[in-house]
Amino acid sequence: PTIFVITPTYTRPVQKAELTRLANTFLHVQNLHWVVVEDSPRRTNLVSNLLEKAGLNFTHLNVETPKSLKLGLSWIPSHTPRGTLQRNLGLHWLRDSFSNTAPPEGVVYFADDDNTYSLELFEEILSDNFNKPPHFQAIAMDGKTRQEIGGEIGIDKDKDESVRESTCMSVKLECMEMMRYTRRVSVWPVAFVGGLRYESPKVSPAGKVVGWKTVFDPNRPFAIDMAGFAISIKLILEKPHASFKLEGVKGGYQETSLLKDLVTMDGLEPKAANCTKVLVWHTRTERPTLVNEGKRGFTDPRVEV
Ligand code: UGA
Ligand code: MN
Repeated sequence: PTIFVITPTYTRPVQKAELTRLANTFLHVQNLHWVVVEDSPRRTNLVSNLLEKAGLNFTHLNVETPKSLKLGLSWIPSHTPRGTLQRNLGLHWLRDSFSNTAPPEGVVYFADDDNTYSLELFEEILSDNFNKPPHFQAIAMDGKTRQEIGGEIGIDKDKDESVRESTCMSVKLECMEMMRYTRRVSVWPVAFVGGLRYESPKVSPAGKVVGWKTVFDPNRPFAIDMAGFAISIKLILEKPHASFKLEGVKGGYQETSLLKDLVTMDGLEPKAANCTKVLVWHTRTERPTLVNEGKRGFTDPRVEV
């Protein structure tokens, strides 16, 4: 399965640093396609060059957020929708790309350019030195849960081939718990949002999502940050009109505005060890102090930062 990562981004002093950090993370992830959508009237050289050099599969798009929205002249004064039109364009590109071809197996993930992503969020990386037994790929690709095939994990203490097989299998089973193996919509905790160390879906002992461990408005249909879910490509294509809404969306309801058209809480798949691990952090980058640049600029403007 392919992971399509949609990243909205905009021009500011730290942009290249943010995108460099993100590219360095994604370079460790197999089968990843990076859809970078600039909030700008045209695609910039800075982002184009960075993407060309990064060594990732990518698509480079742009759409500018209208000034009227940025100034907060719409429904909620002072609330600017950040990255909304850009994410929608990314969804549009996906639907457009696979309208006439068989869609790839995979997921969409919305990754803001300033967050911090553990590689385990995508999947643990299996060393190719493992001698993969032939049945093991088949089991993993079946999409069965760990519990369902638990009985098949041999615990042979001898240091022979079967031990290597079972180690290998259990690693691969962990992988299945990550976003790449999403059937419809998967969810997991996100750190540093909602005034908490982390927010998390509430998971029942049976492994179902039954609510939200948040302080800010836990009665939202989907009380989850943008970084806390992934959607299967299949579902995105099945529901061609699902998108993030701009109008009439209260603060904290942007995620809900998309997800309510795709799933119900009942259909959510908890990942990250049943939502017991934090694998993504909603970090925010401090604006650098550039006061000594002065009005005309002190440093060489030809040097890209
Ligand atoms: C929070 C959420 O985590 C975001 O997913 C949500 O879009 C945002 O609030 C919101 O209120 O709309 P926060 O850290 O406050 O995130 O937002 P940013 O990281 O500043 O922006 C989210 C994404 O949109 C970033 O990838 C950023 O590069 C992009 N963005 C931001 C634009 O494309 N244009 C802008 O004018 C501002
Ligand atoms: Mn952010």
